[in-house]
Amino acid sequence: LAAGEKVITELQPWMSESGAPVDAMPYGKPSAYEDHVKRRTVEWLTADPISSINFTPLHELDGIITPNGLAFERHHGGAADIEPGKHRLMINGLVETELVFTMDDLMRFPRENHVYFLECAANSGMEWRGSQLNGCQFTHGMIHNVMYTGVPLRLLLEEAGVKTAGKWLLAEGADSAAMTRSIPMEKAMDDCIVAFKMNGEALRPEQGYPVRLVVPGWEGNMWVKWLRRLEVGDKPWHHREETSKYTDLLANGKARRFTWEMDAKSVITNPSPQAPIKHGKGPTVITGVAWSGRGTVPRVDVTVDGGITWHKARISGPSLDKSMHRFYYEFDWDGKPLLLQSRAHDSTGYVQPTKDQLRKFRGVNSIYHNNGIQTWAVDEEGIAENVEIS
Ligand code: MTE
Repeated sequence: LAAGEKVITELQPWMSESGAPVDAMPYGKPSAYEDHVKRRTVEWLTADPISSINFTPLHELDGIITPNGLAFERHHGGAADIEPGKHRLMINGLVETELVFTMDDLMRFPRENHVYFLECAANSGMEWRGSQLNGCQFTHGMIHNVMYTGVPLRLLLEEAGVKTAGKWLLAEGADSAAMTRSIPMEKAMDDCIVAFKMNGEALRPEQGYPVRLVVPGWEGNMWVKWLRRLEVGDKPWHHREETSKYTDLLANGKARRFTWEMDAKSVITNPSPQAPIKHGKGPTVITGVAWSGRGTVPRVDVTVDGGITWHKARISGPSLDKSMHRFYYEFDWDGKPLLLQSRAHDSTGYVQPTKDQLRKFRGVNSIYHNNGIQTWAVDEEGIAENVEIS
């Protein structure tokens, strides 16, 4: 027997002693051996940790669901700690009846369950001018994908009775940043949800407890957390988050505004800089995630030679509207250097562009909406690095 195989013949402590009793941990946690799996920040990215961001460890996950404790956080004024009994949701403005709901009131409306991705518009924003951050957690980790339970926003608006002139909705948060965004009424009436559960349990405080707005397929900034007010109006408000921020400055000095939908995108999560290949040449699994704010992702291509040849990846797991998809490509690695890329095709026929194709139209001034193809260079040792190829 090889030395490593002693683990089969030797009695291990967990086989010779009883384990922990049932109530050792009334709210369960991952194994202590998994404590490296965590959200991480990039300290120099923001001036302080209150208005800041951390990243989902995509390279440690599989399937399509982000566990609640690992969903990235983005706060403009820190995470509010709200007592649900003291929280109210108000609807005012161009409505027949202005309404105020308690959390108990919201529970009496019909609920729905949907899995949606939330991607911050700034995801991959540091990569516009060239490869920068070494790990898919940092280049692509401003995304999470969870199942929401909540009340369709349409039902609450119908309860208040939107006046004919009511074409826009302002969503406002109860945090110290009082985040506000204008949302067109068609979207509000279509698939938005006022959600109070994620993956079956109450929203986490950092995700907007007790209630947040879900705006499927649209940029994360619009998914107002700690939702306290919905105002119906006849035009957009042009607040800070939709003028000086979350607009895309083009090379000619003009800015694209109201770029709400998140374009199709994908990334290989394994191997990647934080998850090298450790087993040497031979059978190798490449995996990653893909998503589109416009529908599903019926196809993902993978290349191991920098785009000379593309292979159709295998999608496994649910293919849901505006949700993350999981793909795999298994191949026999000859141990030579690799240039790995993935390319998503969404259900509208849109194909994820290269970074150079994006830059041709959008320049490099913006930090938002970078959905370009990501490249990892893998060397003979299996070490992966963030690179760009032209
Ligand atoms: N809502 C409020 N009230 N305050 C905030 O700071 N941040 C927004 C949005 N909703 C924010 C908010 C931004 S920029 C993003 S990307 C998402 O919430 C992040 O959601 P998450 O923290 O669940 O990842």
